[in-house]
Amino acid sequence: MCGIVGYVGRGEPSGRPLDVVMEGLGRLEYRGYDSAGVALVTPQGLQWAKRAGKLTNLSQALERRPPAPATAAIGHTRWATHGAPTDVNAHPHISQDGKLALIHNGIIENFNTLKEELLADGVSFLSETDTEVAAHLLSRAFDRLGDLTEAMRAVTRELEGAFTLLAVHADMPRTVVGARRNSPLVVGLGDGENFLGSDVAAFISHTRSALELGQDQIVTITPDSVEVIDGDGVPVEVKAFTVDWDASAAVKGGFRTFMEKEIHEQPKAVADTLLGRTTVGGHLTLDELRIDEVVLRSVDKIVVIACGTAAYAGHVAKYAIEHWCRIPVEVELAHEFRYRDPVVNEKTLVVAISQSGETMDTIMAVRHAREQGSKVLAVVNTHGSTIPRESDAVLYTHAGPEVAVASTKAFLAQITACYLLGLYLAQLRGNMYQDEIGRILAELALMPERIQRVVDNEEQVRKLAHSMKDVTSVLFLGRHVGFPVAMEGALKLKELAYIHAEGFAAGELKHGPIALVDVGTPVFVIVPSPRGRDHLHAKVVSNIQEVRARGARTLVIAEDGDAAVEPFADVVIRVPQTPTLLAPLVTVVPLQIFACELAAAKGLDVDQPRNLAKSVTVE
Ligand code: M6R
Repeated sequence: MCGIVGYVGRGEPSGRPLDVVMEGLGRLEYRGYDSAGVALVTPQGLQWAKRAGKLTNLSQALERRPPAPATAAIGHTRWATHGAPTDVNAHPHISQDGKLALIHNGIIENFNTLKEELLADGVSFLSETDTEVAAHLLSRAFDRLGDLTEAMRAVTRELEGAFTLLAVHADMPRTVVGARRNSPLVVGLGDGENFLGSDVAAFISHTRSALELGQDQIVTITPDSVEVIDGDGVPVEVKAFTVDWDASAAVKGGFRTFMEKEIHEQPKAVADTLLGRTTVGGHLTLDELRIDEVVLRSVDKIVVIACGTAAYAGHVAKYAIEHWCRIPVEVELAHEFRYRDPVVNEKTLVVAISQSGETMDTIMAVRHAREQGSKVLAVVNTHGSTIPRESDAVLYTHAGPEVAVASTKAFLAQITACYLLGLYLAQLRGNMYQDEIGRILAELALMPERIQRVVDNEEQVRKLAHSMKDVTSVLFLGRHVGFPVAMEGALKLKELAYIHAEGFAAGELKHGPIALVDVGTPVFVIVPSPRGRDHLHAKVVSNIQEVRARGARTLVIAEDGDAAVEPFADVVIRVPQTPTLLAPLVTVVPLQIFACELAAAKGLDVDQPRNLAKSVTVE
């Protein structure tokens, strides 16, 4: 969690370091928004400001007391772990001599021991954070070694846990030093200036040229150089990449919120994820996978690991991959997988799904799977992030930057990438005829237009949300791939509107949850295509009748032309006709719009719901 930005530039001291850092913080605020702060290296020495609350509080403080022109700056937006979100606990943390400033993302697990040692040595602490120990240790190491990079190297050896650290020192006015362990940090390469950021969004409007940093590496940026060393001080080569995200994708572009904008970007997210992955003859070519075909053919089990919305994408993947490839697929929350001694081996393909590529629970699960000999394939949206770097292969989703904390377009892109993976495995292993695969790919190619039709129908859902702004509980029911959609609908409503919401497998209802249904209880039901197999449709229509018989208000999401639902639905929200396995790409969209609009109707912050952060980079 927490967003980090660093900047250093050539020329006279100016307002640019502050401007760049504040702009970067604005783009990273989705990572945490409890408090924010900046530190600047100026000819008058180190200057800093920090404020509890959103970034605007810091901006206002800086307007009231503008700092001096600077040569370098660091900035931080916080999601609190140790210590409440107060001015004092906000970053940067400053050394006792007022010359060094440090910002941190992560948790320093041995901070208590280190703090006791420092206290015994006469150091006094101002905050309740784990970070402050690192600031004091770094300052003492700097005084001993006379160099910020060497000091950082010495201090990171003492720290346990996860961290990205950035520091500036008044005696090194054109230098920012960073270090990372289990927490993200990327470098942006400019002309006479360089940048550091938790992700590329931090500097996307200044440069598209970036470097990935590896585990336990220390980076020193000056206006004209970027040097990376490992923990032993040995220079290391790092991977360069070009940021292909559009800077305009990280601004609201006329929409009230990022979430609303990202919902509208879903047709493009799906189209872009499909783009260039088939040949003219309809063959799938996932060239970037880089796992030996022999290995993929010998896979006897797939385990999907992910958290939150990404895990629901994994549930959809399970239905599709098992059906198409006849390989058993398990889906597990990454934090549960890691701690339960899972049975995986070299014949297991582990698929790690993550928008950010930085979710710590998923990173730890990836490492555990690889230790057991499994190959790990990452389905990730963010280039330069940790999960693809630590996996055997990656299938990127091309959703573009997702800024709203609630995931929408990344979810649809994850599902799409998983369909491609399933079809690719079926092609490779000969589970399906090529023309069958071609037919499904042709249907997939129609999905962006179908999603667009659902988005175009948003007015109906928005009105419904406004009429329901005082509800206190909403249930969501679905079967088959409708079940993960129901869970995702409930998650969206919980995280955005702070309303009790639960998603159930419709068949499970009579085993207990139906007791929740009272007169007027709103129940969304995701109805599968009546053109599908296995009487799925008829079963769900029965479930609608069951809840209605108990007084529920039924809000039914059904295909165009499905007349069977009408007698039992208080409201019908139509989606285009779509094959059952692909239906989540359309059925989830009204639920996203509903949650977004209901939260807005309640006057809540849609993009930054309380207590949350976009990237959960702590375990
Ligand atoms: O970045 P990731 O996809 O790994 O994030 C996983 C979850 O934290 C994320 O999907 C979360 O559940 C979203 N806030 C849901 O909207």
